[in-house]
Amino acid sequence: MTKPVAVESLSPEAARSEHARLAQDIAEHDIRYHQQDAPTISDADYDALRRRVEAIEAAFPDLAGSEVSRRVGAAPSEKFSKVRHAVPMLSLGNVFSDEEVEDFVARVRRFLGLAEDAPVAFTAEPKIDGLSCNIRFEGGELVRAATRGDGYEGEDVTANVRTISEIPHRLHGEGLPDVLEVRGEIYMRHADFAALNARQLEAGDKVFANPRNAAAGSLRQLDSSITAQRTLHFFAYAWGEVSAMPADTQHGMVQAFKAFGLPTNPRTVLCHSGADLIAHFRSIEAERAHLGYDIDGVVYKVDDLALQGRLGFVSRSPRWAVAHKFPAEQATTVLRDIEIQVGRTGALTPVAKLEPVTVGGVVVSNATLHNEDEIARKDIRIGDTVVVQRAGDVIPQIVRVVEEKRPADAKPYEFPHKCPACGSAAVREQDEKGEVDAVRRCTGGLICPAQSVERLKHFCSRNAFDIEGLGDRQIEFFHKEGLVMSPADIFTLEERDKRSLRKLKDREGFGSTSVRNLFAAIDSRRRVPLNRFIFALGIRHVGETNARRLARHFSTFEALRRTCLAAKDEASEARAELDNINGVGDVVAEAVVDFFTEPHNETVLDDLLVQVTPEAMEAVQTDSPVAGKTVVFTGALEKFTREEAKAQAERLGAKVSGSVSKKTDILVAGPGAGSKLTKAAELGIEVISEDDWLARIGEG
Ligand code: IVH
Repeated sequence: MTKPVAVESLSPEAARSEHARLAQDIAEHDIRYHQQDAPTISDADYDALRRRVEAIEAAFPDLAGSEVSRRVGAAPSEKFSKVRHAVPMLSLGNVFSDEEVEDFVARVRRFLGLAEDAPVAFTAEPKIDGLSCNIRFEGGELVRAATRGDGYEGEDVTANVRTISEIPHRLHGEGLPDVLEVRGEIYMRHADFAALNARQLEAGDKVFANPRNAAAGSLRQLDSSITAQRTLHFFAYAWGEVSAMPADTQHGMVQAFKAFGLPTNPRTVLCHSGADLIAHFRSIEAERAHLGYDIDGVVYKVDDLALQGRLGFVSRSPRWAVAHKFPAEQATTVLRDIEIQVGRTGALTPVAKLEPVTVGGVVVSNATLHNEDEIARKDIRIGDTVVVQRAGDVIPQIVRVVEEKRPADAKPYEFPHKCPACGSAAVREQDEKGEVDAVRRCTGGLICPAQSVERLKHFCSRNAFDIEGLGDRQIEFFHKEGLVMSPADIFTLEERDKRSLRKLKDREGFGSTSVRNLFAAIDSRRRVPLNRFIFALGIRHVGETNARRLARHFSTFEALRRTCLAAKDEASEARAELDNINGVGDVVAEAVVDFFTEPHNETVLDDLLVQVTPEAMEAVQTDSPVAGKTVVFTGALEKFTREEAKAQAERLGAKVSGSVSKKTDILVAGPGAGSKLTKAAELGIEVISEDDWLARIGEG
């Protein structure tokens, strides 16, 4: 962007044409942000466009009151049916500095004609970075929920909002109005966002850029069962149509919402001056990184509703409220290089190596580039000057390239088609629908050193070989020392140690007891159930469930291996056999065939089979999908009593615990679930409903 000409020096023609261009740009950004949940510019850049429109309209009154300055958001998309808001859902003006906060207070006082010493109260509350929603209750029942849309007409997301456990389907309490439209923000917590993206990545689906986009994408699903799998939250802070006001102040209204059973933000306070507001802003800013969800500022509102009424609105925002935004955590720096990292599943992740720069008080020298399409879409080249952004705790990202500063010789980046760690081909897979995976993966499997440490960790993990004393830290150590490079090495460790001059027991961090225990633990795993053995191999798309299916079908490892080798020929009977295993689709079949036909893997397997004997599946009790899992039940259970649930889970080999901790695998949450649910979300633990639980244990 070149530096804009001062508004005052624009000719009327130039002002008109720039205004039209900005209106067009803003309209496009609105669609990307509100309908596609995929913005291409930062909020700060967007706000700058909006401010420029306002400045032009102020200097050229002919252009004032245009569509663009009145509209908020984008028209609802065609996917959902539309809902006309009984009361428009408007937006807020922004301020960025302490002076502007004082100006806001002064403006309010002036407008109301208040004497210098007359008190006026404001509420100050976090500005949640989610998407606003209007939820209508009639006679206490939730009847309709709608997104903001263009402020006048939104999308009907009732079915999806009903899946948000924090939003009651029925309100209760004294003074509950017959018609109550509650407005607030739907948002996603950081832990849920991270867990969702991890699942998306694993499934080869779209990864969300930030929690706001993830919340919007989750809410705007045509299939509400998808929304139900995404943990969304809500804070009530405003209202639309209300048949009888339960309070006459802003904070009184929010307290009433809380009493009716709605979640409200505990960090809402009453302030009495500009200085008070600013002090609260600073304290929220300091807490920002620890909140567990994204906020982008603090909203100040005149508390007295009668005064709010007198102040009214100006174009698209109320005169009685303002958003004090955090300074954009952005900075400009030079992209020195693009490095490719390789994960356990072989995913090649591009990382931007930056000239170190301070962004929001933290020195940043790496930023994620997501994947190869993202680099191409933003046309990011080595040597480019780029805008880096940090939002809350999220990994720094590259927002855009400053094209004017591009070196003349910068060439488009060519994403490697070979794994940088092992040189094997790196490919992008296609799913059943023929969609190409956003992620390029190394095909080197067990021979790829970058993958091998991660794979070894997986091999030893709890639901695989479960070798006690061989945790992530020990594996990293053995790998670094060259002692364990492939799974078979684990089982020859003791033998080699006997012959070694540098005994393990003499090394730092080990003693004779721990070494003896480790060797005993390894020895006890020379026979393992076939399903665990298959799972431990870390074959793509073969998680515990598919491993169990394969183990049940083939009974012996040799049968599985033989069939997979023969199934290389897609027209073979072996291939048909694989494809026909219940639950094993084409993608899984392809992945297992690829695994077994890869020559490197053959060697690894042959070596391993000298050491280890896979046995037919574990006894029935431990063969259930929840065997070995730690489960917690919370909230009201409707299909069975707590005792029944516990007994059944234990019969299936699960461990039932009364409290949520890092060891919890599954939280089964019924209606009214409270602190356990919050904790589980924070820890990124899988949360399922009673019905999901029944389905999972095969009773649904
Ligand atoms: S009050 C008429 N309070 O920010 C004003 N808005 O930039 C009604 N937002 O559309 C909005 N947290 O989506 C209000 N505590 C809060 C908020 C909040 C987030 C969002 C909301 C609004 C946008 C305006």
